[in-house]
Amino acid sequence: MTEKKAKVAVLVSGGGTNLQAIIDAEKNGTIRSGTVSLVVSNNENAYALTRAANAGIETAVLLRKLFESSEAFEQALIRTLEEKGIDLIVLAGFMTILSERFTTRFRNRIINVHPSLIPSFCGQGFYGLKVHEEALKKGVKVTGATVHFVNEIPDGGEIIFQKAVEVLPGDTPETLQKRVMEQAEWILLPAAVEEISKRICTEE
Ligand code: GAR
Repeated sequence: MTEKKAKVAVLVSGGGTNLQAIIDAEKNGTIRSGTVSLVVSNNENAYALTRAANAGIETAVLLRKLFESSEAFEQALIRTLEEKGIDLIVLAGFMTILSERFTTRFRNRIINVHPSLIPSFCGQGFYGLKVHEEALKKGVKVTGATVHFVNEIPDGGEIIFQKAVEVLPGDTPETLQKRVMEQAEWILLPAAVEEISKRICTEE
């Protein structure tokens, strides 16, 4: 008998290196309680879509500009996720803030990876390279990444995992981003997908 697995959707906007880490973790057995069933992008040029296609994962593209309001965009997103029977939504570099309407619909079923140690350098306006630029500007010696549940407060939901990463002399936003991804994000996010998928499977 095959064990039940949580159906996971990964929401992306860009390069998709975190998506790749999840795909690889499923392949090598680090993720065994969940399976990536869908990748949704709000950017038709996201390289993450190619990564999904290469792995044989179904994709959907939803462009905000094709909807008259963010509410209509979110409704379409909800429909896409529900049609597929998604149990867990993973925001992996998804550069759109979701409203309370969306987050309450999937309470404790949405997780996000953020490239800092929350509550530092987080909230509205802190995304991607900008986070690392601000960390360097402040002169912090340690930064890191956080995986957390998503609620109505941007980067404000319960923390699942965090990992610290050293800032080194001479770092640029790009070198720091790479170290934080390699040493923290690509490890924490797959681990959290497994942990929450396992919880979901045992709840049901
Ligand atoms: C990652 O560093 C992720 O933590 C960050 O965007 C990058 C996406 O890279 N997310 C945020 O800043 C969210 N606030 P990827 O597309 O290669 O995974």
